[in-house]
Amino acid sequence: MSQQAGEINYNGLHSYLKNFFKIDFMGMHGLPHWARVCKNGLDLIELEEALGHTPRTDVVYLFAYLHDHCRENDDEDYQHGAAAAANAVKLREQGYFEIDDEGFELLCYAMTHHSHGQTEADITVQICWDADRLDLGRCDIVPDPKYLCTQSAKRQDVIDAAYKRSTKGKEEK
Ligand SMILES: [Fe+2]
Repeated sequence: MSQQAGEINYNGLHSYLKNFFKIDFMGMHGLPHWARVCKNGLDLIELEEALGHTPRTDVVYLFAYLHDHCRENDDEDYQHGAAAAANAVKLREQGYFEIDDEGFELLCYAMTHHSHGQTEADITVQICWDADRLDLGRCDIVPDPKYLCTQSAKRQDVIDAAYKRSTKGKEEK
């Protein structure tokens, strides 16, 4: 994966998150969700780049793995995005990842507001939000284009592929 700025201490971050996460690491808001958000995000980056936009891969990647890491439960947890941004400040200081100030600001904004239903923002932030919302099939919700931000995420083929991915584990149970 190409990085536009800094390095991600992936193994250290993975171990940290596994120890830190208070709820089911393999559950609704855990690692499998983060991995699908990452996949959705990377796909959207490619599609948006083809439309002439220049989203930041490093921000989208970090968002995928950090946006839900401070959840206290799998239900309503209105503050978990802001808590994720606050804890990301510490993780950055401790060297789990490196990112320039501009990218970190985008990351923190995306995390703080990811569950507040907004659709207008910088293209990188929009991709973060869409990548998360495209994974709603795991909660038996089909993503609605009305709540998606980017032209690419609103594509029916993109919604269908993400929905299929998000419900795959459920079918196998
Ligand atoms: Fe999420």
